Formats: sequence, structure tokens, C-alpha cells
Amino acid sequence: MKKFQLSIILFLFLFACAHAQNNVQGNNILPKPASVEISGGHFTFDSQIYLKITASKKEKAILEELIAASPLEVGKKGNKQLVLKVCKNVDGITSPEGYRIETTDKSVTVNAKSGAGLFYAMQTILQYAGNGNTIPTGTIIDEPKFAYRGLMLDVSRHFFDKEFIKKQIDAIAHFKMNRLHLHLTDAAGWRIEIKKYPRLTEFAAWRSKALWKEWWFGDRLYAEEGSPEAHGGYYTQDDIRELVKYAADRYVTIIPEIEMPAHSEEVLTAYPELSCTHEPYKQADFCVGNEQTYEFLENVLTEVMELFPSEYIHIGGDEAGKASWPTCPLCQKRMKEENLKDVNELQSYLIHRIEKFVNSKGRKIIGWDEILDGGLAPNATVMSWRGTEGGLAAVNSGHKAIMTPGGYCYLDSYQDAPHTQPMAFGPYMPIEKVYSYNPTEGLSNEQAKLIYGVQGNLWAEYIPTEELVEYMIYPRILALAEIGWSNPEKRDLNEFKQRSIKAVNGLRAKGYNAFDLENEFGQRKEAKNPIEHLAKGKSVTYAASAPFNDKYNAGGKTALTDGIRGGWTYIDGRWQGFIRDGLDIVIDLGEEKEISSISADFMQMCIPDVWFPAEVTISASADNKNYSEIARIEHTVVRDEELSFKNYGWEGTAKARFIRYRAKCGPQRGWLFTDEIVVK
Ligand code: ACM
Repeated sequence: MKKFQLSIILFLFLFACAHAQNNVQGNNILPKPASVEISGGHFTFDSQIYLKITASKKEKAILEELIAASPLEVGKKGNKQLVLKVCKNVDGITSPEGYRIETTDKSVTVNAKSGAGLFYAMQTILQYAGNGNTIPTGTIIDEPKFAYRGLMLDVSRHFFDKEFIKKQIDAIAHFKMNRLHLHLTDAAGWRIEIKKYPRLTEFAAWRSKALWKEWWFGDRLYAEEGSPEAHGGYYTQDDIRELVKYAADRYVTIIPEIEMPAHSEEVLTAYPELSCTHEPYKQADFCVGNEQTYEFLENVLTEVMELFPSEYIHIGGDEAGKASWPTCPLCQKRMKEENLKDVNELQSYLIHRIEKFVNSKGRKIIGWDEILDGGLAPNATVMSWRGTEGGLAAVNSGHKAIMTPGGYCYLDSYQDAPHTQPMAFGPYMPIEKVYSYNPTEGLSNEQAKLIYGVQGNLWAEYIPTEELVEYMIYPRILALAEIGWSNPEKRDLNEFKQRSIKAVNGLRAKGYNAFDLENEFGQRKEAKNPIEHLAKGKSVTYAASAPFNDKYNAGGKTALTDGIRGGWTYIDGRWQGFIRDGLDIVIDLGEEKEISSISADFMQMCIPDVWFPAEVTISASADNKNYSEIARIEHTVVRDEELSFKNYGWEGTAKARFIRYRAKCGPQRGWLFTDEIVVK
């Protein structure tokens, strides 16, 4: 055989191995299954496949529809078979959503304890086959880690119609997520028809500006439905029934959220008698003292519970300003009568009372973690968003928690370098940050049992279009799908990213506007690798008048000479923050050294009050007593909307052991953030 032919054969062999390897390890299955074993052969779907389903009529119909809509070929009869069966017991499976797939070259046999398990097995088979009709032989045993795997969509800040919601249900179900939480009510618009209160949809669902940003920073007026200035929309009760059924047919439960006692400007403008002052356009919080408030909320929830079969109803509970309650006669009267010592207990009174009502209908409440303040309602589940502490407090008191901490789960934050992205609400949170989250890390087994699951939240203040919703959700929700389903021990970021890129390609082929993960810009280049310089590891003394802020300490006294540079956000634990009095430090190089540059980067992000310094002075000394100023850099600080970085430095020749670096705030006197004082 000629050398040339040999190398071609070798190439083809290696290519075939690599291809098989790629497929057999389940490298396109997301979330990653608990166990994949392959036995070397292949099963091909074709018209000779006999499909046999043993399940309830409804479960069977769901599976038949799924298979018919898929690229998998099956026929009515044949000598090969696809068997899908609901069984009481399935080897190796404990969860009702788990499944077991045994594949030989003649048959695919799927056993699961429920229709959901069979549905998820089919999603696995579809992903395994890619766009083809062939899967490897072997065994897959798989089940979820958490029972609750959710996505929240904020349809109040911008309204998205029911067809768009269905499209998102299709996607999340494909990745084995099983909850869609709809944030249906908020200041920006009420989104669900309530027969008893028609003004909610004739008026409170419509506003003067299409874009939330223009409306919120503008007149904040509502509008009559059908008037030329009306922007918004709502789901009719028929729409809701259609959505609930569509979701249920994909094993997704829709959890409605009705906000109370805050975020309710739209209700309190339509029905001002429910606020403390009875004036429209004045209040965000319901009057907690007024009996009419309970009548309204219970009537609304009654209609909501008739529409949504979900065991859980989300009642909001977050961010109440409570500003009018201390001066409202009815709220004060209620506090006296009920022996409530502060407004937190007053809020807690409302939540307890609503919980009792919801429980009386056989349902349970979920609330944002503020429902812990003033005493948690007895059967409530907490959705932990202000970090993880709320979730921990909930499980420590025997309650279930759904983990949605902002730093990992808020999908309205930047997923790539901010200057390359559409304007977003939160800081840089790339897919690897989401993927690094482990909801049960550090918890005991007992505590971990009460972690009900995880959820990605898409708040929509800065998300006015359907394209942008999808762009922000996909692929970061895949990280949460995997955290919710797969074992944390099996996590490998690079391998996950490769699967996510394949999933992005699949989503794009189906018409989803997913972010192009494969071509992401990525982390700030300075932050990618540690930097070596003369001051690295040297001691830093902070002037008593200008300490670093404890919350943004970046590791404390060594932060500015640890060689670690900051990334795209000041909350990445690498930027040290100084408030108002600026920065004033001395670095001791240990001995006198020849130096040729001293510099530091600062960040500006005006909305959260982070500014460039107005002046930096750099001085050098041999003895820490007599300093000579070697540079003074002045900068006119100008407000802008962009996240930006600026280097304040000096270059020249000098000899010094001690370096004093001072940075002063400008007239704004907000925050200064720097990551490293680099000396060369
Ligand atoms: C929230 O982000 N206000 C729950």
C-alpha cells in the first residue's frame, strides 16, 4: 500500500473515531445525563421502526406529537422498535422525572416513571441524534438533581405575546426545564385579564411610551386601551388557558406572579382607593390597613388560581418602600390591633393573610426573599434573589427555597464585554459565571434537601424586543438547565461550553436569536492573566482618612499589589472600592528601586455612582518622610452612559522605595474603583 493511501485510510479512521467519540459520549446532550454507557453499535430510525407507547392516553398523545414533529423517522410497523413505557419502578431511577434508555441495533427501549420522564428521554434521543437519525447503542440512566428548574419572564416591563411565550416554552422544555414563572404585574403594566376588575386591562395594561426606559424616566402615565398613546397589552383569560395547556403538554408548569404589596403603581392608579392616600399616580404599595385591599387581592387570586393549576402561586413581596404606611391611619390602626411592632411586620401580616387564603384553596405561595422580613409565613417557599442568604435563612427554618441569586441568575445583565453589547441592566455575567453556581455548596444534606431548585430571571426593563429576550436568555439559561438537572461533580466548563455552542447552533437553526457564544469577545484582557511588576506582593498602607470599603475590599490590604487585575464589573471581587474620600495609599517596595512607570486603572459607570477620579497625584520617597511629587494628573469628570476604563499613570525615571498614590473624587463624590497599582 502506498504511503499516501495509508495516510488517507488512517485519516478516515481517526475521523470516524473522533466522530463516534463526539457522539457516543453524549457530547451534544444538554443538560448532561447522569450516566452514558455505549456498547459500540448504532441504531438508526427509519420507516421500519415500530413505535409502541405504554402510557396514559394524554401522555401517549404528547409523545406521538413530539415524535411526529421531530426529524426522527418512525413507521407503523417493522422489525425494529422504539418502546416507550411508563413503569412503577425503573432500575437506577428515583425521581419521577428520570428515565432509562437501552439501545441495541434493533431497539430503543425507554422506561420512566412518568410521561415527563419519557418526554425527557425523547429530548435526549433528539439531541443525541443531532439532525440525523442514528444514535449509539448502550444505556443512558438519567434523572434531575432538582425538582424545580425555572425561567422567569418579566412580561410587565415589556409585553410579549402568547406565541412568543410558546416558543420559549418549546426551548426550555427541550433542555428539561419545567417551570415558567411569568411576572404578570408591575408598575409598567398589568398583563392578565381579571373579570372582576376590568380597569386593570382597560387602563393599567397600557402606558404612554412603548419603551420602559422612556416611560420610567419620563411621564409614567397610563393610557386607555385603544387610545393613540396606549402601548402595552395583556393576556385574555382564553390566552392564559391556551398557554397553560401548551406548557403542560411540554411538562412545564406556568407559575403566575401577582405582585403585592409593592410594585403596584398600575393597580393603585386604576383603583386608587386601595392605596394609603387614595390618589392615583402617587403610591407603589397597597394600603395594608384597608380591608378593601384583601378583598381585591383575594378576588384577583381567585381568578388567577382558576386559570393556573400550578401548586404554587407567586405573590411577589419584594422591594416594598413602605413609605406611606407609618402615616396612614388605617395602617397604623392595623399595626395597633395586630400588635405589629414595625412596618416589616405589617408587610408580613399581609403575606401571612394572603398565604392563609391561598392555602385555603389548596395552593401554596412563593415570595421573593423580602417575605422573610418581619417573620416568614408558615408554608411559604422563598425565592432567594438578593444573594443566597434568603435561601439559607428559609431552609434553616424548614422552608423550601428556590435559588435565583442576582450574581448568577439575573439574565438581564451583560453576557459579554459591555461595549460589544446592547445596553443591559446588570453587570458582566458571562455563561461561565452562571455555570459556576452551585445552589447546595456548603449546605448540609438536611439543608440541601430543602433547596427546591434554581431559576434564571429575565427582567425586561431594558429588553423591549423579542429578539433581545432570546439573545439574553440563550445560551445562559442552558447553564441553569444543567445546574438544575446534572450532578455538580461532573461539571467541566470547557466541555459544557462546547455543548452550549452546539445548542446555540441548534437554537439558531430553529429561529431563536441566541447570542453567538462561539465568537464572544470575553473577559477584559487585563483580567485574563496575573501581572508581574515591581510592587507585586509588596505591603500597602492605607491612610486612615481613606479606607477601602469593606463590601468591595477585593481581598483587603493586599488587593492593589496582588497582580490580579479587574474584569468588566466592579463586583467581580477584583476591584477595590473607595467612597467619597478617595484613595490614599503608600506602597513600600522594600528597598530603593529604579522605576520607570506607575499607573492604575479606574472604572466609570455613572448609573451606580462609580466615577473616574478628578485628580491623581503620585509621589516618591526614599524614607517615607520626604516625598517628591512626580506626577499630577487632572481629569474633568463627565457623566456618560457607558462603562469605561481610564489609566492614570506616570512614565519617566526615578528612584524610590516608597510610592504614594492618591486619587480624589470629583464633584460627584461617589465611588472610585481601582484594581492594581502597577509599578515597573
Ligand atoms: C427583584 O429582582 N426585585 C426580585
